[in-house]
Amino acid sequence: MQHFTSVHDVENPATLLQDALMMKRNPLKFKKLGKDKTLGMLFFNPSLRTRMSTEKAALNLGMQVISLNASEGWKLEMTEGVVMNGDKAEHIIEAAGVISQYCDILGVRSFPTLTDRASDYRDDVISKFKKYAKVPVVSLEGSMVHPLQSLADWLTIETLKTKKRPKVVLTWAPHPKALPQAVPNSFVEWMKQAEVDLVITHPKGYELSTQFTDGVTIEYNQNQAFKDADFIYAKNWSAYEPYGQILNMDPNWTISPEKMALTDNGKFMHCLPVRRNQIVMDAVIDSPNSIVLEQANNRTFAAMAVLKNLLR
Ligand code: CP
Repeated sequence: MQHFTSVHDVENPATLLQDALMMKRNPLKFKKLGKDKTLGMLFFNPSLRTRMSTEKAALNLGMQVISLNASEGWKLEMTEGVVMNGDKAEHIIEAAGVISQYCDILGVRSFPTLTDRASDYRDDVISKFKKYAKVPVVSLEGSMVHPLQSLADWLTIETLKTKKRPKVVLTWAPHPKALPQAVPNSFVEWMKQAEVDLVITHPKGYELSTQFTDGVTIEYNQNQAFKDADFIYAKNWSAYEPYGQILNMDPNWTISPEKMALTDNGKFMHCLPVRRNQIVMDAVIDSPNSIVLEQANNRTFAAMAVLKNLLR
């Protein structure tokens, strides 16, 4: 593995999952592997879980960590060949080259424009760091996918499933702001690697890009989709077409105890942060079937598996 920016960078995703399981059982087994190595992390938008879990992962592997809040006052030019007579003082070509001298692995978190679909679906910021950095690049969430989240989600399902092939339902839920499609896109492409029956449910108009959903069952009736499910993964996303728009705020899509009662004692998942009583009712997220904190805990072991592979 040279970079970790989507499932397609990973030669054998199932082996990476096994590594994450091993890290969870023994988090300090490789505490000398990263000695004298530095992880750099650039955040173009804020993060709690990704930032802290990836830093914790690096520390468990014996690495040093340097983090930069890149959205604060540092304006980076991303376009090649431009006359830099605007407000951007540094080009990504130099920035990536310089950071590569300070760090052995570089993590980058960016956010989609939600207006320029072509740029967002090229994952422009992360792709350009991949192009110009001289060290491995890890996506800490890009504008199209969030692979560290998805590997942790897979680890969560693998450790808590009670059937060999569980039914996993990815459900849209209402939210007052337009949100990216990165988490659901990524979840779908990683679940294609897993031994699960995946169903996606959302109101008409919220179809994700077919580059992710080809071959996956889409059920527009949420109640029907929830029947006998083992895992309910709730997430809001804005429309792919018209891009970045909110089309629906129907509270009937909020995850309620009545909906969860349709499942086979299903477990509730969400990547967090989550808006209570918009996405999910308190009675569901506070119930024993909610595994959102375990999901967040698994972020550390997913990041450890990725960093370990890149260090090697
Ligand atoms: N789930 C997730 O990526 O959380 P943060 O935005 O806090 O990193």
